[in-house]
Amino acid sequence: MSDLTHGARERTGQAASAMRLDTQALREAAQHLDDGAVTPSFGPHRDQIVSLLNDALATELVCILRYKRHHFTATGLASPAVAEEFMVHAQEETAHADLLAERISQLGGEPDFNPTTLLQRSHAEYDASTDLQSMIRANLIAERVAIESYRQMIEIVRDIDPTTRGILEQILKDEEEHADELSDWLER
Ligand SMILES: [Fe+2]
Ligand SMILES: [Fe+2]
Repeated sequence: MSDLTHGARERTGQAASAMRLDTQALREAAQHLDDGAVTPSFGPHRDQIVSLLNDALATELVCILRYKRHHFTATGLASPAVAEEFMVHAQEETAHADLLAERISQLGGEPDFNPTTLLQRSHAEYDASTDLQSMIRANLIAERVAIESYRQMIEIVRDIDPTTRGILEQILKDEEEHADELSDWLER
């Protein structure tokens, strides 16, 4: 399978420079039905992409837990609007986690929801601060780490997997908005 895949990728590169389709790769795509949406020109990178996406999934899940903790403990503190915003972010991180898990499945991988290893695999930290400014600060740090990780992932998959790239770009846009909102709150 990997030789065939390598051949298909090489020919796809040649076909791209000749501006015509690689008909043998199309025939190969018509076989291997077990691979679902993953066709031969996808190359040997599928497992690595699944692994990157699983680390991002762990990050989103930790972010959900942190924002929920902050929402419920910040309720009643000086700024209920911030507490509400934490819940909105938790919901948006949930949507991100779902997008990542769905893409992992499409790529023939298994989304890893194992809570035992969640923190180890997450790029961002959990936080149980009890005052509002520390919560905002912890969330801003986590968002900035998430932004950096998504930027790097987008570069890695740029030419290999345009669908994953599109999903990551969509998530990155939300994370930038989150960081922007948090830094506004921090200045008040
Ligand atoms: Fe997110
Ligand atoms: Fe976020």
